[in-house]
Amino acid sequence: MAIFQVESGAPLMGEATVHPAKNAALPVIAASLLTAGELVVPEMPDLTDVRAMCDLVAACGANVRREGAAMALSAPQLSPPDTAGLMRFTRASALIMGPMLARLGYARITMPGGCAIGQRPIDLHLKGMSALGAQITTRQGFIELSGALHGAVIYLDLPSVGATENIMMAATLADGVTRIENAAKEPEVVDLAQCLTAMGAQIQGAGTGTVTIRGVYALHGATHQPIPDRIEAGTLCCAVAAAGGSILLRGTRPEQMRALLFKLQEAGTSVSEFPGGLRVRGKAKWPMEIRTLSYPGFPTDMQAPMMVVACTTPGTSVFLETIFENRFMHVPELTRMGACIRVEDRVAVIEGGYRLQGAEVRCPDLRSGAALLLAGLTADGVTRVEDPAGHIDRGYVRLEETLSGLGASVKRIE
Ligand code: EPZ
Repeated sequence: MAIFQVESGAPLMGEATVHPAKNAALPVIAASLLTAGELVVPEMPDLTDVRAMCDLVAACGANVRREGAAMALSAPQLSPPDTAGLMRFTRASALIMGPMLARLGYARITMPGGCAIGQRPIDLHLKGMSALGAQITTRQGFIELSGALHGAVIYLDLPSVGATENIMMAATLADGVTRIENAAKEPEVVDLAQCLTAMGAQIQGAGTGTVTIRGVYALHGATHQPIPDRIEAGTLCCAVAAAGGSILLRGTRPEQMRALLFKLQEAGTSVSEFPGGLRVRGKAKWPMEIRTLSYPGFPTDMQAPMMVVACTTPGTSVFLETIFENRFMHVPELTRMGACIRVEDRVAVIEGGYRLQGAEVRCPDLRSGAALLLAGLTADGVTRVEDPAGHIDRGYVRLEETLSGLGASVKRIE
């Protein structure tokens, strides 16, 4: 349980270094199951989702060793985990399916619980595993997969990030060539492909809609540093656009943040790039139209933080959430702070420019929680963000410290 106390104050000033990406680290942890060798990550972000994923691969037989900022993982022996609880903690637990199946010829996962932002099925993951030769049965809340894998051509009805990653990992050890059509192009998919290639996999086309994997006999250990977290960086950019100021973000890759940076500039915040980072300056001035899309479109994970920016800018903004069916959980909480937002299905209309009022609000999911902290930076009075499920710590490394380091008044009250 975490409670954050936020007060508005001076505009944000200073600089921050962005951490390695949660959504790149989690598939890399799963990839460690593909080899008996040692996979070393020089800087592994200290997130509860990372710890949960490490506990899960350890339950599958992997050795996980934290050495300061670094982490070493190896899986000489594998066994299917029998702890459903571990697998329900994070949606990314489905990512052990591909590696287990490829290495062991067997995998067992729990039916993934949905989560606050939507049903989040894994039908496309299973479609891919079946095409690769897996026999799939469901029993007592578990999904069991077994069989020797062979190459296949797999069309993804949706460019699913997780399904692309899972199938890519399974195909690295399959007998023959696999082609994934309508693959996700997210930078985290490209990063995973780079990690797998360092481990000896043969992968072409990651980052495009068509990814080709030629199976090999075995993978070996490697050292791989996951990419910086473009969503953490984007959240801090939105903090400036909402609360004002001028900050320097080090260790970001602006080329992976184009959609967000263009929309912030259209809204009146200035963004300048320098080698290895970004300078973001000034409150947004104008309303915006945001449509979330798969990469390289506007990221769905940035929708909630960007909506706080829209609340602060005079005029009518329109948001269309095309990826998840229930990703406006922050709206009722922002409304408690005086925001003027109407939601119809996947469309939200924001009448911005009214000063938000501090209030007691509750964090419904990870990105909404971050958005509520940003809202508190712009509100009159004190905002108390209750996070009983610890959502914020799943995806941000001590976000309150990062914001405080930029001059914000954000305190964590355990
Ligand atoms: C990844 O989730 C990210 N998580 C999410 O970040 C991110 O929002 C999402 O990609 C989209 O970019 C990780 O990488 C750990 P999807 P994932 O499969 O893989 C539907 C955060 O806040 N779908 O691309 O689960 C699904 O229901 C999190 O860091 C199917 O229908 O996303 C959703 O509507 C939130 N069948 C859409 O596709 C499937 O088999 C996109 O899902 C798989 C997905």
